[in-house]
Amino acid sequence: MKNKISIISILLSTIIIISFPVLSISKNNINYIFNDQEYKISLEDFSQISLTPGENENMLNFCWYDKNSDGDSQIKIWEKDGDIKIYKGSKNKLENGFVTNKVTVRDLKENTTYYYSYNSNGIWSEPIEYRTKNFKNFNFVFMGDPQIGASSKKMNSYKDGIKKDSFNWNKVIKKSLENNKDISFIVCGGDETNTVVNKNNIEKININNWEYAGFLAPNYLRYIPMANAIGNHDKDNENFYNHFNMPNSTHFGKTKAGGDYYFTYGNTLFLFLNTNNLNMNDHKEFIKSTIKKNQDIKWKIAVFHHDIYGGGIHSNDKDVKKLRHKLPNILEKNDIDLVLCGHDHIYSRTYSLKNNKKIKDFSIKKSTNSNENLEVIKNSKGITYITGSSSTGSKFYKHTDKTKRYIKLKYDKEESTYTMINVSENNLIITTYKVDDNEIIDNKIIIEK
Ligand SMILES: [Fe+2]
Repeated sequence: MKNKISIISILLSTIIIISFPVLSISKNNINYIFNDQEYKISLEDFSQISLTPGENENMLNFCWYDKNSDGDSQIKIWEKDGDIKIYKGSKNKLENGFVTNKVTVRDLKENTTYYYSYNSNGIWSEPIEYRTKNFKNFNFVFMGDPQIGASSKKMNSYKDGIKKDSFNWNKVIKKSLENNKDISFIVCGGDETNTVVNKNNIEKININNWEYAGFLAPNYLRYIPMANAIGNHDKDNENFYNHFNMPNSTHFGKTKAGGDYYFTYGNTLFLFLNTNNLNMNDHKEFIKSTIKKNQDIKWKIAVFHHDIYGGGIHSNDKDVKKLRHKLPNILEKNDIDLVLCGHDHIYSRTYSLKNNKKIKDFSIKKSTNSNENLEVIKNSKGITYITGSSSTGSKFYKHTDKTKRYIKLKYDKEESTYTMINVSENNLIITTYKVDDNEIIDNKIIIEK
């Protein structure tokens, strides 16, 4: 019986390998992807694949549009000289004539080079290289409001604005990767695109499709996964849900774009809240039940769009006030270590906060090998909130001169920034850079636990 099973399994693997021969790995293609100096963009290219972190570090989620509704949604993945594994996913036919494909790949090992290929319009893509990183000590980069299309008002045409924002989006990703080649993934604080879509307005749907083409245009996104929060510009947009394959997607905090979702990576739990939905019981239940399922986790990072402790004009908005009234208590009770937000398009960072009050439990040291200040927050009972600037510079608001009592630093120059975060067993090390010259704009923050 055992022999019979092995013969059948050998036959089946042979059939799979014969049906899906190893694609010749075009070195040129891979080089092109890694060294694209020129930035080419086609706003009509709607079928670009997006990668999102999977449920844990061994998994990776894929999502892409295509015109072909036949057959399964599939990803082939293999190590150099290794067997091809094929993962099937789900296909969803959309009213705009496209289908959206979502596939999850499993069993990925750390520090390993893979190649993947996906099927679009019945054709397998050229193999694309994907390298997993260290799972224990890892880096991710946080970016606020790319809002592709927001600069269109100042341009000759809507398309020109999208192209400009997409160019700057490519630039911030490129800069962050040049700064640190070991980024495991990007975290984006919401407002990925600008147009607020109304289902009955075809013109707006078309514009938003171009914006998504612009958002997904950077080639880096073919091998760097990205986890996106749902911004106020995204909340009612099915395009958001149809362009990203969010892990552990829940019905909590749901809008048309999706609900609260989470993933773990090494020792860290990432909780993405859809704060457009003001049902606090939903968010509370989501956080509580997720933490219960992930008891052995060291770090807990919450990501949501509305900067409840931000430094810009949105702090007095009705929804932000409501969130500020209820959410901090839920986050504190669940021992969240760090919160990342967007919405105000200027970088700010709070003191460690608890019960709406600042805790001054930090010490500032001079770094031994450079001029930078290290701000160490040790075993804090409070939470640090960081708001990202506009990572593309597509839109800035009028400044408010008054700095709120909870803000430790506000960087309100009209400059794009990105924030690099290193996660290890005992520290979160947070460094924020100006995109143009990589100047560090805040103390290097070390949250120690
Ligand atoms: Fe925004």
